[in-house]
Amino acid sequence: MPKRCLVTGCAGFIGSHLAERLIQLGHRVIGIDNFSDYYPRSIKEDNLAWLREQPAFTLVEGDLAEMDLTPWLEGIEWVFHQAAQAGVRASWGADFAIYTQANVLATQRLLEAAKGSPALLAFVYASSSSVYGDAERYPTHEDFLPQPISPYGVTKLAGEHLCRLYARAFGVPAVSLRYFTVYGPRQRPDMAFHRFICAMLSDAPLTIYGDGMQTRDFTYVEDIVEANLLAAERGRPGEVYNIGGGSRVTVREVIALLEDILGRPARVQFAPAQKGDVLHTAADIHKAARELGYAPRFGLREGLEQEAVWLQGRLSASA
Ligand code: NAD
Ligand code: UGA
Repeated sequence: MPKRCLVTGCAGFIGSHLAERLIQLGHRVIGIDNFSDYYPRSIKEDNLAWLREQPAFTLVEGDLAEMDLTPWLEGIEWVFHQAAQAGVRASWGADFAIYTQANVLATQRLLEAAKGSPALLAFVYASSSSVYGDAERYPTHEDFLPQPISPYGVTKLAGEHLCRLYARAFGVPAVSLRYFTVYGPRQRPDMAFHRFICAMLSDAPLTIYGDGMQTRDFTYVEDIVEANLLAAERGRPGEVYNIGGGSRVTVREVIALLEDILGRPARVQFAPAQKGDVLHTAADIHKAARELGYAPRFGLREGLEQEAVWLQGRLSASA
């Protein structure tokens, strides 16, 4: 059955992929985005290019932390809350105010608007592996104590708690998905693969933070999209689910793979490990597999190739 959906952060990396998939499946989508200046609007406009041509898609430009949300929730059956101030390493200092506004206040306001909505069937919140901090064990299970080590992680955990509170107090069907470092076409320009590929394509040096032996459970964006759809259908309100990609590798291994894919050597320089960066992530995805039917389908090589093709296209278009 086609659903009326709201996707926040629809101009961003993950939100634009998700909105596209929803439209392709025959759903109607209202997308909200404030085109925050964390990275250039032109990139977000490119993300939206196909969506803007779809009659089933409506774009609303506005800030979730300030706008009147009630009219946009009317009749909505599925909410996918992807909007946030992302980025782990930039969340220290004065900019923390942006993180509290976009990640905590915006989430609370959206939940408030959703709580009286009779049509609402699902509210999926984009949480983050950063809530774990340096986890007590790997792979990390949802029940382990979340102890974020970045201000960003603190705000994403606050958002999860708000979802649980609104599920409990008001029956909002809110489910949190803890995404593990997402990559693929449209990846944000501050993220590692985007930076590495751009540097290698232009024969510029890339920077490894720390010794490059840190690991991530990298997750391809289409697997994240699939997890959102599954969570809307089957997620248990108030619950959290790890969504990992099953490709846990070191940063050094990623660079070696990119050298192979791009057929050229990387020029590597090193900088100190960044405050707020965890050393390792690894998702225990048994709960998502059991309850949602989630299974990642994209391997790291295939996903990196897709991201490289996209960035090659962007670089040649701007040349
Ligand atoms: P992104 O920055 O590309 O997309 C977020 C979008 O939200 C942007 O287009 C931005 O303009 C919009 N936005 C920000 N604040 C807003 C506000 N107050 N009102 C309306 N719109 C606002 O980021 P992304 O990488 O696509 O991340 C999407 C979500 O997934 C975020 O919630 C992020 O915390 C979460 N997440 C991302 C990753 C990852 O690896 N990319 C991993 C874990 C969790
Ligand atoms: C990513 C997203 O940016 C966050 O929004 C998200 O919440 C988080 O995943 C998550 O999984 O919760 P991060 O893991 O830092 O955060 O993703 P990348 O920016 O791709 O970094 C991956 C690794 O590469 C990190 O260890 C980082 O230190 C390293 N890195 C990054 C470099 O060595 N050099 C760079 O130029 C950039």
